[in-house]
Amino acid sequence: MSSTDTTSRRTAGVDDLVAQLTLEEKALLLEGVDSWRTNAIPRLGIPSLFLTDGPHGVRMVRDDGGAFGVGDNRPSTSFPTSATVAHSWDPDLARRMGAAIARESRDFGVHVLLAPGVNIMRNPLCGRNFEYYSEDPLVSGAFGTAFVQGVQGQGVATSVKHFAANSNEDYRFVGDSLVDERALREIYLRAFERIVRDARPATVMCAYNRLNGTFCSDHRELLTGILRNEWEFDGVVMTDWGAMHDRVASLEAGCELDMPGEVAHNRAAIIDAVRDGRLAPEVLDEAVRRMLRLIERATPDAASPAEPHDPVAHAALAREIAIDSGVLLANDGTLPLDAGAPAGSLVVVGELFEKMRFQGAGSSLILPPEVVTPKDAFDARGVDYAYARGYRTLTAERDPALAREAVDAARVAETVLFFGGLDDFEESEGFDRTHLRLGEPQVALLRELLDTGARVVLVLFAGAPVEVPFAEELAAVLDLALPGMHGGEAAAALLFGEANPSGKLTETWTRTATDASSGADYDRGVIARYAESIYVGYRYHDAAGTPLAYPFGHGLSYTGFAYRDLDVRVVGDRVEVGATIANTGGRAGAEVVQLYVGNNDGAVFKAEQELRAFAKVPVAAGAEERVTLSFELGDLAYWDVAAHDWVLEDGEYEIRVSASAADIRLRAPLTVDRGHTSRSPYPAAVDADYATPPVGIPASFPTLLGREVPEEDRSGRLTFETRLGDAGRSFIGRAVLGAVLGCVRKEFRAAQAMPDSAERDAKLKSTHFVVRMMPSMSLRSLAMSSGGAMPYGLAAGLAEIAEGHPLRGIRRIFGRRRAATADRPTT
Ligand code: BGC
Repeated sequence: MSSTDTTSRRTAGVDDLVAQLTLEEKALLLEGVDSWRTNAIPRLGIPSLFLTDGPHGVRMVRDDGGAFGVGDNRPSTSFPTSATVAHSWDPDLARRMGAAIARESRDFGVHVLLAPGVNIMRNPLCGRNFEYYSEDPLVSGAFGTAFVQGVQGQGVATSVKHFAANSNEDYRFVGDSLVDERALREIYLRAFERIVRDARPATVMCAYNRLNGTFCSDHRELLTGILRNEWEFDGVVMTDWGAMHDRVASLEAGCELDMPGEVAHNRAAIIDAVRDGRLAPEVLDEAVRRMLRLIERATPDAASPAEPHDPVAHAALAREIAIDSGVLLANDGTLPLDAGAPAGSLVVVGELFEKMRFQGAGSSLILPPEVVTPKDAFDARGVDYAYARGYRTLTAERDPALAREAVDAARVAETVLFFGGLDDFEESEGFDRTHLRLGEPQVALLRELLDTGARVVLVLFAGAPVEVPFAEELAAVLDLALPGMHGGEAAAALLFGEANPSGKLTETWTRTATDASSGADYDRGVIARYAESIYVGYRYHDAAGTPLAYPFGHGLSYTGFAYRDLDVRVVGDRVEVGATIANTGGRAGAEVVQLYVGNNDGAVFKAEQELRAFAKVPVAAGAEERVTLSFELGDLAYWDVAAHDWVLEDGEYEIRVSASAADIRLRAPLTVDRGHTSRSPYPAAVDADYATPPVGIPASFPTLLGREVPEEDRSGRLTFETRLGDAGRSFIGRAVLGAVLGCVRKEFRAAQAMPDSAERDAKLKSTHFVVRMMPSMSLRSLAMSSGGAMPYGLAAGLAEIAEGHPLRGIRRIFGRRRAATADRPTT
């Protein structure tokens, strides 16, 4: 049978079902139930879909009783987080990791994996950067594409998230990301575009926030204009959990599935709107058709039952990825260490040595079947070391006795290995950091350890950049990021030179948070002005000349690499760049070769250079390899806001083959002569303000944006959309926040009371995440995400009362609720 026959038969089947579904059933089909499932329609044999997080393992919730269902999960392999995997610069690892997670998903009966997260790391303070790949869209797109292909290749659907411009956690539920059209296209949408075009994900998850004034769930230009019409996305758009804003507007915008669902008001809204003619039945039917096609695509047929997965192979893969992703940030030759060094010469300090932080907190939290800490890995190797805990995680208080013990041990040591980093109370989904510093107990202890005169090596576990204290005095710094459940093996293998570090950063490490490219307006309020426009990360720092801790693309090795023999050829529309990479040392290693293109000096403002290709090249000791990197000439185009299209400007560009954004090894000119002379589409004021990366918020930002920047309401009043934590002047605001916090704090305290175990840690992290996140929620987002616990009518009524309309409020609370509840069919 030809594929056309199959397609038309399927369409007929879908059309047939649409014809048989009642209006109520259609509304039901487009929302979730029980947090992780969609509604089945048993009468017509339509099954329910099972969706679960991602992205670093399968978070299969075992018991839904925990706060927001983050409590109790079935064990599954905990892989390194996305930000860690990206440090490998090897997208094939993301592909293999995706395939492994998909095999576990199928084993658990999961149909849709809620992953990958491909938002751009706009600012290092974002609490969720560990779940994203990079500040650069090419890296994010390459890893996201490979991950989706890996998962979907095993027959499990993916959900690429969070679409779009969700760059902070503190304001994610109500925030308005003001992004100019060009930055949106070149930076924030580009990874999504590549993944949709190249990997055809089954679903896309829209973000909580507003984008230029419109909530993403209602954003027609985003979801239909760009995603479907331009990029030809043919899957389903679902909301993030509780991101629905207006159910009818969202259907018209192209958002089909409302998750986690069970919002009676939303079902009633669909039904009422169709009945009274505000929503065309064809719009609803098209959404239902897409949903039915997803169900067909994502539910495996009985002929291909799930193969049981191989936990040992998956653990080995997690370990391999962690090793390939470790980044040696600095080294004076102290590393690698000698595993057989004389007794007493090596002292290990830091609780993270025995209680490794291997993943981030929030919706991606995995319960692994086992964890191999650095201590386990050292002991397995029979390494002779003394250990002092030095500090405790999950507390801001110093423990003087522990610190003293560590300093005393260091006095007689030659080398101190200090295991430091962030804990889950400092960095998590649900809230942002306010600075990049390590905890005070760690910083103070490091100072004292350095003062003993021992050589101090810092080993870091953190999901995002930190300020490295006393960097110039440290002998070496090894960043393992969040390396998954076998991260301890990676630490030992890299520290003792069994493996040669080959990871490089996919985000810039600035010296302080204020140095970040978006430092001028990050987490200042609901209105987020993306005033830096296209100058994100290295695109900013290269031209601004910011003194950095470690530049984008940086990472050392135990060997050295020389670059030579650059060769640039233009073949049709492709540019092919060859270079020879020679290993100049005595160890085998792998070099991440980065190809930046220096932009033309035309009339349109541009970043100094942009990453256009990369490759990780293994080279044996003393040997050399020829590498070829290539890109399309069209990749050099900028988004022209007058033409609303990509434009490739004529001019002189420069090919730069580099070891990092700041370490250019080979250069060659590239002339583009395709007939598009350079002409700025911007008013003169914008050109003047943006010729170089802006400092602060330029006066012409509203002109660049094409709209006025809205005034922010900082009155402390409560409205339906106010962050509860910002409604301090409203009694109702305080009461609602107090009530929800009361419940989740109780769970947090219960976790605190548990005996010390991995399970306790997981519970602590997940409940703390909810406690910290609650003040960021609004009455609407509570109603949309609570699975009916906070009915929409109650939330809307409370807002009316808080705004001084008590009668209207009471009517909302009692009237609508009854009508909407009555609409739920009993099947
Ligand atoms: C997160 C999503 C996640 C969902 C379900 C949300 O809070 O933003 O990334 O997939 O919860 O857990």
